Amino acid sequence: MDRLKGKVALISGGARGQGAAEARLFAGEGAKVVIGDVRDDLCKKTADEINAKVGSKAVAAIHLDVTRAADWRGAVDACQREFGGLDILVNNAGIANMKGVEETSEEEWDSIVNINQKGVWLGMKAAVPAMRQRGGGSIINISSIFGLIGSSGSAAYHGTKGAVRLLTKAAAVQYAPDKIRVNSIHPGVILTPMVDVIPREDLQPIINLAPMKRGAQPEEVGWCVVFLASDEASFVTGSELVVDGGYTAV
Ligand SMILES: NC(=O)c1ccc[n+]([C@@H]2O[C@H](COP(=O)([O-])OP(=O)(O)OC[C@H]3O[C@@H](n4cnc5c(N)ncnc54)[C@H](O)[C@@H]3O)[C@@H](O)[C@H]2O)c1
Repeated sequence: MDRLKGKVALISGGARGQGAAEARLFAGEGAKVVIGDVRDDLCKKTADEINAKVGSKAVAAIHLDVTRAADWRGAVDACQREFGGLDILVNNAGIANMKGVEETSEEEWDSIVNINQKGVWLGMKAAVPAMRQRGGGSIINISSIFGLIGSSGSAAYHGTKGAVRLLTKAAAVQYAPDKIRVNSIHPGVILTPMVDVIPREDLQPIINLAPMKRGAQPEEVGWCVVFLASDEASFVTGSELVVDGGYTAV
């Protein structure tokens, strides 16, 4: 119940999917949470639902476009104003694309790099000074199995998720002296709105590549994020936690 008691977390892309599940689990474990998203109405609805469930203001919703440095500064300010500081950053916001190298336009490339890759860097840049003030922190960057292995149809997505993996390790090395741990998570197929757009007949063969032969619920990633955010993971930094039903073990 209290694995995150006394901690304040900022979760990007928290309106729905994995980010919303993480906000629910974090609040249940005693954290205060700011969720930021470009889907403002849904973000507020998610915060309201969690607050009604826990019976107090555990979650605040804000507008956050992860590609904008000013929005990140506002998000960190919101953590300090609403809850007194910042201990945990989950760089969760992301978009997918299903296009190969030649099929991807320059606009599409820039858009996905800005959100999935630049957004993670901007988030860490904004959060680290606030974490230093608290004497340390934990940053969890959501990559993908597609940041570890290749596939034929998502060139820009692979590029960004691979970049997040090594950006995470670079930050882990840089901020170890500040007691800020930085880790990446590599989900396989997670049943969120992101994959809902893929027709079931196309998704099932991908799911079947994993020995467990199923997609995961967002909470199955969320509990791993809780672990990395908590003091239980006090010696874990620069690591990559694979949550994929065995997809990359084959
Ligand atoms: N679902 C999967 O199978 C899967 C697998 C591996 C990795 N991931 C990664 O997990 C993370 C969460 O994805 P999800 O499955 O919950 O998808 P989702 O589409 O349900 O949620 C993503 C959230 O990010 C938000 N977002 C998009 N652009 C944003 C921006 N510029 N600023 C702020 N928020 C923005 C969306 O509004 C949405 O609420 C993503 O980084 C994704 O790449 C997902």
